[in-house]
Amino acid sequence: MDASPEIHTAFDAADLAWDVSAALIRIAQEAIQARGVCHLALSGGSTPIPAYALLALPEWRARLDWSKVQVYWGDERCVPPDHPQSNYLNAKTSLLDPVKIPPTNVHRIKGELPPAEAAQDYEREIAGITFDLILLGMGDDGHTASLFPGTPILLEQSRRVAEVYVPHLDSWRVSLTLSTLNSARTVMFMVSGATKADRIQEILKNEGGANALPAGLVRPTRLIWMLDREAAGRL
Ligand code: 6PG
Repeated sequence: MDASPEIHTAFDAADLAWDVSAALIRIAQEAIQARGVCHLALSGGSTPIPAYALLALPEWRARLDWSKVQVYWGDERCVPPDHPQSNYLNAKTSLLDPVKIPPTNVHRIKGELPPAEAAQDYEREIAGITFDLILLGMGDDGHTASLFPGTPILLEQSRRVAEVYVPHLDSWRVSLTLSTLNSARTVMFMVSGATKADRIQEILKNEGGANALPAGLVRPTRLIWMLDREAAGRL
């Protein structure tokens, strides 16, 4: 049986960024101590940006040997790497450039390629990797990474990465699949704001058939939900 998720509620979004940064550093350090390297997948979306910015500050970046961190992404929008919607670009600007991570440690999903090709390329990139930590966000509809409700990628059994067309966004994305998320050593969700509170209630109180929500299907060995008070408002 899966272990119960660890649920942490921060006072507000700023405290949440602080707590997520501290937890990320702790988990990465443990991985480096145990195996000499941390395989870390970052989340897209806007929620993690304050945590990335915090980790980039001189006093925070000195607490982790970033040369021993290999950085990946949970998903990517099918746009070039210099596009404002690129998850790679957002993490690069807010975190990866300031911490001066060696470019060879950065493994991006090539959103500029045709979607199926980008997914195959990334599948090769992560071959043999066990993620020590995957950071995820959650949308108001319960999606996570680019696993949206009702999309065929949720049924994918054999691939670790897949392309997915998201009808309501009329766009393609590339995402780690559920089996990849569930095989990570740790998954940490970071969720902020009142618009997410209903989905959080459904998933964490297992109400309303929440198991069907993509974020509710993420059940690795160690699962951490980092919330602010607004997101946790219905727990
Ligand atoms: C992405 C994501 C996605 C995101 C949620 C939450 O590429 O958009 O990885 O799953 O985490 O949509 O987004 P916000 O943090 O912007 O609310």
